[in-house]
Amino acid sequence: MARIVVVSNRVSVPSADGGARAGGLEVALRSFLKRNHGLWFGWSGKVAAKSEMATRSVEHAGVTYLTTDLSRADYQEYYNGFANRMLWPILHYRLDLAEYSSLDLTGYMRVNDHFADQLHKVLRPDDIVWVHDYHLIPLAKALRDRGHQNRIGFFLHIPFPPPELLTALPKHERLILSLCHYDLVGFQTENDADNFARYLSKECNMPSRDPRTFTAGNRTVRLGAFPVGVETAEFNRLARRTARSSFVREVLTSLSERAMIIGVDRLDYSKGIGLRVEAFERFLADHPQWRGAVTYLQITPKSRSEIREYAAMERQISETVGRVNGRYGEASWTPIRYVNRAYSRSALAGLYRSSRAALVTPLRDGMNLVAKEYVSSQDPDDPGVLILSRFAGAAMECEAALLVNPYDPEAVGTTIAQALAMPIEERRGRHGELFRVLSENDIKFWGERFVEALKNPAGEPALPNPAPRRRMSA
Ligand code: G6P
Repeated sequence: MARIVVVSNRVSVPSADGGARAGGLEVALRSFLKRNHGLWFGWSGKVAAKSEMATRSVEHAGVTYLTTDLSRADYQEYYNGFANRMLWPILHYRLDLAEYSSLDLTGYMRVNDHFADQLHKVLRPDDIVWVHDYHLIPLAKALRDRGHQNRIGFFLHIPFPPPELLTALPKHERLILSLCHYDLVGFQTENDADNFARYLSKECNMPSRDPRTFTAGNRTVRLGAFPVGVETAEFNRLARRTARSSFVREVLTSLSERAMIIGVDRLDYSKGIGLRVEAFERFLADHPQWRGAVTYLQITPKSRSEIREYAAMERQISETVGRVNGRYGEASWTPIRYVNRAYSRSALAGLYRSSRAALVTPLRDGMNLVAKEYVSSQDPDDPGVLILSRFAGAAMECEAALLVNPYDPEAVGTTIAQALAMPIEERRGRHGELFRVLSENDIKFWGERFVEALKNPAGEPALPNPAPRRRMSA
């Protein structure tokens, strides 16, 4: 059986706590690799002096974890620089935040070459290589340059914007066309795949055999949509268990029977947290009957704090939360609890199940697994309500959520009131529909479907159709 080699910037090496902190996607990739005797390669998370940079390997439950250090210059130019100051904002449609530097681009290419050099030492001719996310776009080309003919696939976890935006990326052809060295390029939604297809055909005049198969010189590259799911059934069981845990009971007791609304996001401008807090403020202003009767818990672990925009956003959100709490709070009630720390998956599952509604309102998001985990956690007899941005990839599948425009705090405020007042029959109906859709597209099948499609030689059996059955109307 061919070995699966996963490559990503971050590697989830199992830790002494048994992986309690690992996200659902990491857990799913680990178990996928376990079934395929795989190898996971990427950054160790360590920044080392050039002379001390090392690549290490550990085995755990049949999986090899191979990690490599970065130098301080690599970290600044590749991670803080080109990946997160240029690609992240552009791919999230935020041209206003993108900062180009040719030094950063050089660092980004250098780290991709370093990854390719390390992989070159261990890659076997029949390995199936699966590369993840925007940090590693040129990796297939770097591997091909080193003579590797393996099947190599790429999956983009974040959005892919229309060519009208993407072409603002200086020297975009050099980087984006290097995706054609993959055999298969996967996206979260059909919309993202369409944007890439339009880039190839309209911007680069690339010949295509069909709308999803392009010919780049002597190579064929196929595109497809593979929406990431969650462990729907397992998450439900986890939530059922942990909703009774002492941690969740303590949180609920501290709320004194008030309804809880929950938001869980990495601190990132793409998540729309500032506008969401303003929407909650509008809700309190327009619906005074709810003052003192509902608490909004926003859990926001910090991220990428060395990047200017992230530090600025951190200050701005704290100020907005402070303003709302100052204006509407009472000695006995704080409207918004804003917490900058990460909780384990099981703690979150219990909190999701105990919340009357979830606010998932990114300005742009590849998928958003919090939305799916929230749905999975609910008690089907008494489910909470998902309020979801139409600009999250998850909205394509979650039509039965309350879909909102996150740029309209007044409308989001009204939707919060609608969610809290929603009759039980409607809540059950919407949840039943959402749970059914998410059960059909469980994360277990995602890895298998992608790798099956990658193994098929170009032009042979059509891609399986992992796309959700229904699409959101415009
Ligand atoms: C997004 C990206 C991931 C990234 C994660 C956390 O989900 O798609 O590739 O790992 O954010 O960001 P960080 O910069 O902390 O790795």
